[in-house]
Amino acid sequence: MEGFGHVTQTELERGVGEILIEEEAIQTRIADLGAEISADYAGRDLLLVGVLKGAVFFMADLMRELTVPCEIDFMAISSYGAATDSSGAVRILKDLDINVSGRHVLVVEDIIDSGLTLSYLMRNLTARKPASLEVVTLLTKPERREIDVPVRYVGFEIPNRFVIGYGLDFAERYRNLPYVAVLHADLIPSAT
Ligand code: IMP
Ligand code: MG
Repeated sequence: MEGFGHVTQTELERGVGEILIEEEAIQTRIADLGAEISADYAGRDLLLVGVLKGAVFFMADLMRELTVPCEIDFMAISSYGAATDSSGAVRILKDLDINVSGRHVLVVEDIIDSGLTLSYLMRNLTARKPASLEVVTLLTKPERREIDVPVRYVGFEIPNRFVIGYGLDFAERYRNLPYVAVLHADLIPSAT
């Protein structure tokens, strides 16, 4: 087993193949992003829009690094049918409570993969006439991009591997790992 400096393994850690980004590296990067975003949004009225559920963890840490006042709201979306639907059509499961018209909106994402979900979300939010609309994502997999989405702030670029932890799930689990890791090979569903 790679990536563990200690011998005993928790039940949760059994799902972990290899740690890609350690907890400390994540927190250091978030502090940098927080400083950058605070400078960029000085004097502006910032609204963070988190995409449930994965972004909750990143958003909670990021907002505590911001030195500008901000509000938060959440959206939950799910793709129609096949995950690889090229239309990028998604269903809104939970919409915003706050009216974003005239607001400086920063969408907070856990990971951008094909970009289809985010692309739909950006079109949807643009129609609501925010004063500005930008994206911050903790992770991005550039190799997997199918549609170009302008992303203002990126935490880390990662290779094309399925990752878990720090909000990212495999079948709804492993979100509570404090680091980002590759799912253990024994758990990766074989491609059919
Ligand atoms: P996209 O529309 O293909 O960009 O899908 C992005 C969504 O897919 C993310 O918000 C995640 O929910 C999920 N996702 C993509 N890659 C991973 C991964 O490596 N681990 C866990 N979830 C992932
Ligand atoms: Mg997910």
